[in-house]
Amino acid sequence: MDVEEAILRRRAVRSFEDREVPKEKLEEIMNSVRMAPSASNKQDWKFVIVMDDEKKEEVYRAANKQSFVKEASAVIAGITTDPEYRMSCGIPSGVVDLSIAMDHLTLKAAEEGLGTCWIGAFDQEKAKDVLEVPDEYEIVALMPIGYPKTSLEKRSKNRAEAREIVSYNTFSE
Ligand SMILES: Cc1cc2nc3c(=O)[nH]c(=O)nc-3n(C[C@H](O)[C@H](O)[C@H](O)COP(=O)(O)O)c2cc1C
Repeated sequence: MDVEEAILRRRAVRSFEDREVPKEKLEEIMNSVRMAPSASNKQDWKFVIVMDDEKKEEVYRAANKQSFVKEASAVIAGITTDPEYRMSCGIPSGVVDLSIAMDHLTLKAAEEGLGTCWIGAFDQEKAKDVLEVPDEYEIVALMPIGYPKTSLEKRSKNRAEAREIVSYNTFSE
């Protein structure tokens, strides 16, 4: 599958089959994740893969009880271990780095026919507590992953047209 196809197949999956994703497959996906670029190649990140049902239940509670979080075969937490560091442009690199890495995850998963959904609606402190993440780190995203109930197909997406969001040479509203 080429990148374009993975981009078009990926969608927010909120309904999963009751079927386990083999650990080897998750490891393969994490291999694509670790290839993501990061600012100064610092790779200040850690990932926790939650497969244990009781742990998943706790993550689901920390994620505003979004039911599909516990229905997924696994939930992967992307954690920045240097949340304070800002690039000279003023933007915190940890959030950017983790977002790229987690996007690699979603696209590689799509290539494998697996569904994912970004989860930003979660309680940071509760989730850190559940996953035993040190206080000074931050969870950037939670990502449930599993076999989607409806298989991934290329779909048109509800997105603004390029002409509405792209300008050349100077900014334009
Ligand atoms: C940073 C981020 C946080 C999100 N948080 C949630 C969430 O907590 N729960 C949820 O159901 N979807 C969440 N989403 C999924 C978006 O609603 C979804 O990606 C968007 O509507 C576009 O749909 P698509 O992913 O199917 O293309 C999140 C997406 C992003 C990128």
